[in-house]
Amino acid sequence: FVLVLCLSSAEDIDWTKNDHSSFYYGTFPAGFSWGAGSSAYQTEGAWDKDGKGLSIWDVFSHKKGKIQQNDTGDSSCEGYHKVKDDVSLMKELKLNHYRFSISWPRLIPTGIKSDHINEKGIQYYDGLIDQLLESKITPVVTLYHWDLPQVLQEKYGGWQNISLVNHFNEFANLCFERFGNRVKYWMTFNNPWSVAVEGYETGEHAPGLRLRGTGAYRAAHHIIKAHAKVWHTYDTQWRAKQKGLVGISLSGDWGEPVDMSNQKDIEAAERYVQFYLGWFATPIFHGDYPQVMKDFIGRKSVQQGLGTSRLPTFSTQEKSYIKGTCDFLGIGHFTTRYITQKNNPSGRSSSSSYFTDRDLAELVDPRWPDPGSEWLYSVPWGFRRLLNFVKIQYGNPMIYVTENGVSEKMLCTELCDDWRIQYYKDYINEMLKAIKDGVNVKGYTAWSLLDKFEWDEGYSERFGLYYVDFRNKNKPRYPKASVQFYKRVISSNGFPN
Ligand code: NOJ
Repeated sequence: FVLVLCLSSAEDIDWTKNDHSSFYYGTFPAGFSWGAGSSAYQTEGAWDKDGKGLSIWDVFSHKKGKIQQNDTGDSSCEGYHKVKDDVSLMKELKLNHYRFSISWPRLIPTGIKSDHINEKGIQYYDGLIDQLLESKITPVVTLYHWDLPQVLQEKYGGWQNISLVNHFNEFANLCFERFGNRVKYWMTFNNPWSVAVEGYETGEHAPGLRLRGTGAYRAAHHIIKAHAKVWHTYDTQWRAKQKGLVGISLSGDWGEPVDMSNQKDIEAAERYVQFYLGWFATPIFHGDYPQVMKDFIGRKSVQQGLGTSRLPTFSTQEKSYIKGTCDFLGIGHFTTRYITQKNNPSGRSSSSSYFTDRDLAELVDPRWPDPGSEWLYSVPWGFRRLLNFVKIQYGNPMIYVTENGVSEKMLCTELCDDWRIQYYKDYINEMLKAIKDGVNVKGYTAWSLLDKFEWDEGYSERFGLYYVDFRNKNKPRYPKASVQFYKRVISSNGFPN
């Protein structure tokens, strides 16, 4: 969906202004937490084992033509059967934490707690958590990494329906009850931007709906309410006893104005970030949607002859209930775009969608190295800018980087991932500079531990520190060169001179 325009006017642009080649030697604050991540549908496999219910991704990936090569997550890395092996890899890396997600339909097959709880699913996560703790690796758990129980989609239309707020809260409550004595870091949602936009606007992700101009906003609205409710549940019922933290993991790529002397470009770049990270972070930290979203979506709605904005509103009571529901902010960051208001084709379109509402065009610097993946350009300085933006906009919250990494496509030299080493080195270094700027980053999660199912890209895009041979039914793992590199960063806590 990403609209990347290499405009013919790109010659006017001074692409050199953001060269930040200097490397900062130094170490991270004591206690900084180093980790790696995964998610349930992307790695577990065992899609129909031991009483698990269907998720929207099981159903979506089984439809022909939705996923590259018609790949599915049916067996993926067989993580469900390889807990011991994978924890050994984490020990080898000397990780401080491991980020994974709990599959809602593995625990509650229909998604509705009063129907049935699948004790076998509970046992699986019990085993994983216990093995991590025995290995002195802190579990960092995401409650929703996109695998909604299919029944909730069919019965209620998924996140379009407000009733999911309560169902999700019951699922979260079950997780706190069963795992909260051992898990102290919780994230309600992973990357709700993707859930809303790719699930309900473009239809590239499950459930594959194209409810243009309204579906994404409605889904996001319910997700924000669900997040707040779960935070309050933890705060009032579990926190005193369990002493954990509840946050959310938001995805935020950076948008840099093409021309810093052009006010329109500056405003367009601001919109890029506010319609992305700000869409969720602003209600959670300040109680309401970013003003610029309210203005733009409101104006477009009026132009379309609608009586009210397509962006839903929060009541005064809801605003104060949502505000401040974040003990730490998870940030998933991968890349950057240049943003301009110039030659904006989407603005002229009469159709309504999230993309026309934003009213901007995205560009990439033609000198950025070919990423091998369609969207993931390595632009390390954008990471530092994003982290500083979060510090300024949201009152310097505690941040855990929950995803950062780079993929490769079908290379024959999979294990010699020099460009990944370079990516990690540069991005981790920019994060160190951000900490020196005063940003409160407490931990970093390399994305991902293993190659895995990459959503609509199937297995064609590999993010792992470990290579997985998906052709072999045992799914053996092999360390790429980046494993040694990351291990060194962890053991020296950064880049000592
Ligand atoms: C963000 C998603 O949360 C994650 O599941 C995915 O693997 C990465 N983006 C890379 O595309």
